[in-house]
Amino acid sequence: MLCEFPDYESLCQAAARNILLIGQRCVAEHGQFELVLAGGETPGRVYAILAERSRENRKLWEYTHVYWGDERCVPPDHEQSNYYMARQAMLDTLRIPASQIHRIPAEDPNSHEAAAIYEAIFPQEPDVLLLGMGAEGHTASLFPGSAALKETRRRFVAVEAPVEPRRRITMTPPAIASAREILVLVSGADKAGALRRVLSTAGDFHQTPARLVRNAVWFVDQDAAKGLTEGKA
Ligand code: 6PG
Repeated sequence: MLCEFPDYESLCQAAARNILLIGQRCVAEHGQFELVLAGGETPGRVYAILAERSRENRKLWEYTHVYWGDERCVPPDHEQSNYYMARQAMLDTLRIPASQIHRIPAEDPNSHEAAAIYEAIFPQEPDVLLLGMGAEGHTASLFPGSAALKETRRRFVAVEAPVEPRRRITMTPPAIASAREILVLVSGADKAGALRRVLSTAGDFHQTPARLVRNAVWFVDQDAAKGLTEGKA
């Protein structure tokens, strides 16, 4: 499903509202909320809005477990760390118990082992998975042509990205498919070409990895949706 918004702010407000609604429903239904965060810049404002609204959602965060879909192999206090970005934007404000914040230990020099350790604690069916999409169509740290796109068994692997920081740990197609609900956040004219490829019926996900994301709600702004014809995502 594709939801188009006039601008980045309205996209982020809607995504934050959806995360809160799903989270409240999960806590009511099964006593906890398993939220997988996306990296990059786009989710930053969504996280800030969740922090701004933290007072009205104290109970939700008390029962929330936070994970990441991918991480760069840098220290957790490095400015390019996805964990660091989320901590700065919201985690230092939300009262999620520290034991419920499950960052990827990507600073471990043995990134293959770190991926296996993380996979072992990652939920079988996380309630919400947040994803972004790069201008060339990558999602998480699954880049065009990556061997990780062929992974059918492991849920987290170490990869070499074509952009800095190159060494990363990422969820794989089976892990993405295991999420109960997926919200993909896409903003900016530079994403329009990849978004068209995602929504087109032609082509496969090896060249546009975000095409592997199925049954998701795509939150896109007008700039990213420019030139789109009706399509399914
Ligand atoms: C990462 C992200 C990545 C991100 C896209 C979009 O670690 O970089 O997981 O998949 O979502 O690169 O990034 P922007 O939101 O910064 O455009």
